[in-house]
Amino acid sequence: MPRLSPDHAIWEGPIWSNDDFREKYQVDEVLYVDEMLQFLTVKSPESLLVLSGINEMSGSPTFEASFSGIENFNINRSNLYPEIIDLRTFKTNFELDVMRYVIGISEDAHKVVMTATTPGSYEYQSEAQFLFYIYNNGGSRHAAYTSICGSGPNSAILHYGHAGSPNDRRIEDGDMCCYDMGAQYFGYAADITCSFPTNGVFTDDQKIVYNTVLNANRAAQAACRPGVRLTEVYNLALRTILQGLKDGGLLVGEIDDMMSAGLGRVFQPHGLSHFLGLDVHDVGAGVAGYKNHLPNRFIRAMLPGMVFTIEPGCYFIDPLLDEALNNPAQSRFIVGDVLERFRGSGGVRIEDVVLVNEEGVENLTPNLPRT
Ligand code: GLY
Ligand code: MN
Ligand code: MN
Repeated sequence: MPRLSPDHAIWEGPIWSNDDFREKYQVDEVLYVDEMLQFLTVKSPESLLVLSGINEMSGSPTFEASFSGIENFNINRSNLYPEIIDLRTFKTNFELDVMRYVIGISEDAHKVVMTATTPGSYEYQSEAQFLFYIYNNGGSRHAAYTSICGSGPNSAILHYGHAGSPNDRRIEDGDMCCYDMGAQYFGYAADITCSFPTNGVFTDDQKIVYNTVLNANRAAQAACRPGVRLTEVYNLALRTILQGLKDGGLLVGEIDDMMSAGLGRVFQPHGLSHFLGLDVHDVGAGVAGYKNHLPNRFIRAMLPGMVFTIEPGCYFIDPLLDEALNNPAQSRFIVGDVLERFRGSGGVRIEDVVLVNEEGVENLTPNLPRT
């Protein structure tokens, strides 16, 4: 631990002792950083294990532990990272307790927000209600990520809500809302998306899109079990979406041919899943076998104890639609005048969190009104 100046106690309150930290973190030994060199010189370790690696989803490197004189030792940067990733990939029961809690609070908050979101309100009011609920009712001071509260056409903007478009639109009657919001508790993240029409009544076209995505979500969850790879489930989800759009009259042709032509990514231009835990897009890349190449980034076979999202979506994103319409290999499947009806209507994502068990997956977000 760093040795804090006595002034710290004036501004931040009592300074914790080494024993306090030993007790809190249940470790054998706690030293000041300025004691490390002498302590370790006496111990004379063969090597020091330092956490060093890149999160393949974010590209961010770890912040390596260091102290003055560390260069005197043999530093091993390779052994610890894969071990820590595995520890984070497979949740203990204690971790699952926390995750069930933070996910449960987030589910409750989603329901409150859904009820309160009415035509004429603003997207930021939905965000504010979510943040108030998770803190006031759940003790969750922080959200796991900036809330995505897209209404109407904004529901098709995948990471809407950032500083450049801060959930500031007035919600109109009949808009589809795509709300992606999750609390954070004790460092653990929830990640949930609900999509619903503002006034509570689906139009026929909204039903087509919503039920298509719901079918993809349910088909994907049903296909998950130990030994299965997310790449297979990803393809199943895309096929289900294409089938739904075909049944709805937006597409014609064979699903196999549409898949070969890459049509799925026109409507769902993001992955199906990511690990969830101490980060929203948690580690589990590289060593755990999932690469940063969309769409097939999650290639390690599922094993019990893994927690990840299942989040199919279907969006009407003008540049992607225009590109597809200008590409003969894709446009031959598209019924242009029907598709035009859906332009500007936004999109739908249905995002659940699942835990792999011996038989399949447990849906950790069972309390959301999905139908
Ligand atoms: N909320 C970010 C995501 O769903 O991946
Ligand atoms: Mn997600
Ligand atoms: Mn999300």
